[in-house]
Amino acid sequence: MNTEQALTLLGGLTPSQFMKRHWQKKPLLVRNAIPGFVPCVDRSALVALAGEEGVESRLIVDSPKGWKMKHGPLAKRSLPPFSQKKWTFLVQGVDLHHDGVHALMQQFRFVPDARLDDVMISYATDGGGVGPHFDSYDVFLLQAHGQRRWRIGRQKDLSLQPGVPLKILQNFEAEEEFVLNPGDMLYLPPKYAHDGVAEGECMTWSIGFRAPQEGELARELLLGLADEAFDGVGDALYRDPKQAAVPSPAAIPPSLADFARQVVDKALKNPQLLESMLGEYLTEPKAQVWFENAEEIWDVSAGAQLDRRTKMMYDAKHIFINGESFRVAGRDAVILRQLADDRCISGQKAKSLSADAQEALVDWAGEGWLWAIKKG
Ligand code: SIN
Ligand code: CO
Repeated sequence: MNTEQALTLLGGLTPSQFMKRHWQKKPLLVRNAIPGFVPCVDRSALVALAGEEGVESRLIVDSPKGWKMKHGPLAKRSLPPFSQKKWTFLVQGVDLHHDGVHALMQQFRFVPDARLDDVMISYATDGGGVGPHFDSYDVFLLQAHGQRRWRIGRQKDLSLQPGVPLKILQNFEAEEEFVLNPGDMLYLPPKYAHDGVAEGECMTWSIGFRAPQEGELARELLLGLADEAFDGVGDALYRDPKQAAVPSPAAIPPSLADFARQVVDKALKNPQLLESMLGEYLTEPKAQVWFENAEEIWDVSAGAQLDRRTKMMYDAKHIFINGESFRVAGRDAVILRQLADDRCISGQKAKSLSADAQEALVDWAGEGWLWAIKKG
C-alpha cells in the first residue's frame, strides 16, 4: 500500500498522516469514508452467522429491568422480534467467514497485520446499543446500514457500573456527538469513551485491532522457549568447589541462584528463538478456525492466494504462517514476503522459488492455507 497517497477512507489524509496525527492519539470522524457503501452482509445473513457453532456472538438487551447479555450461538428463535426496541446482537470475526468483509478489512492494512484483529458486525433495533463504555483497543466504526448516534468523550473517570453483565461506564460524559450515515466512519483510540445508539434499525462494522498484553506475551514466549530453548543449554551440573562449610544449612547458596540466572540467560540468548516464538504466536490461527485439507493437489504454476483465514507475516530471517516458522533467505525470502504482503503471487513467481520453498507451498495448499488464484 502506498502510505503517502491521500485516501477517501481517511477523509483525505494519507495513511502516514493518519498514523502520525490520530492513531492511538485522537478520534477522527470521516463523512463518506466509503461513498455509496452497501454492506455485503444483510440482517438475515448475520442472524444465520450468529446461530453457528464456532462463531462468537452476543445478544444485548436494554430492558426495563436493566441490561441483559447472552453469549452465542444465538438461535434465530431466541432473538427478540425486530419490532422490539433497544436490543442488539454482535458477531465477532465476520472477516473469517465472508470474502467481502475480509476484502474490506484489507483497506486497513496500512496498520501492521500483527495489530489488525477482526471485523465485528452489530445489528441493532431502534435505541439499541451496548451502553457507554471504552475499549482497550483502537477501532474504526463504519456505519453500514441505517443511522447511529455516537456520543464520545475523553473520560477521566473510567469506573464501571457494578452488578451489570457488561462493562458500562458509571459517569459517562460526552464531549461530542455525531449521527453517522451509511459509509461514514469514526476512528477512536483506546480508552476513548463512547456510546452508540441506533436510530431506527442499524448495522455497524467495527474494524478492530489487537495489542499483545505484557503478561500474556511473556507467558506465551516463555512457554514456547521452554519447549525449544534447551538445545544450546547442556547437561552441565552445578559445581561448587569454592563452597565453604555452612553454619546455616537451609540457606540457599547465592552462587546457586547465580547459576539459575545464567542458565535462563543462556536459553534466552539464542537470538532467533525469541523472534521465531513471536512470529509463531502472532500468526497462530484463532481458536475457532479450522482449515479443511484440500482434495486436489495444487499446481505451483497456478499462482497462489492465501485463504482468508490464513495469517502470514515475516521478520528479517523467517516466514511465519499459521503458527509455523520457516527460515528463509535470498530470492525465496523476497517472493514469500511478497505473498505475505499481497496475499497472492503469480504462477511465474511461485515457479521461480527454490524446490524446497515450492514444496512448502504445496504442503500449505494441502493444508488449505492457500489456493490457486481465482480467475476473473
Ligand atoms: C456496536 O457496534 O454496537 C458496538 C461497537 C463499539 O462500541 O465498540
Ligand atoms: Co466500543
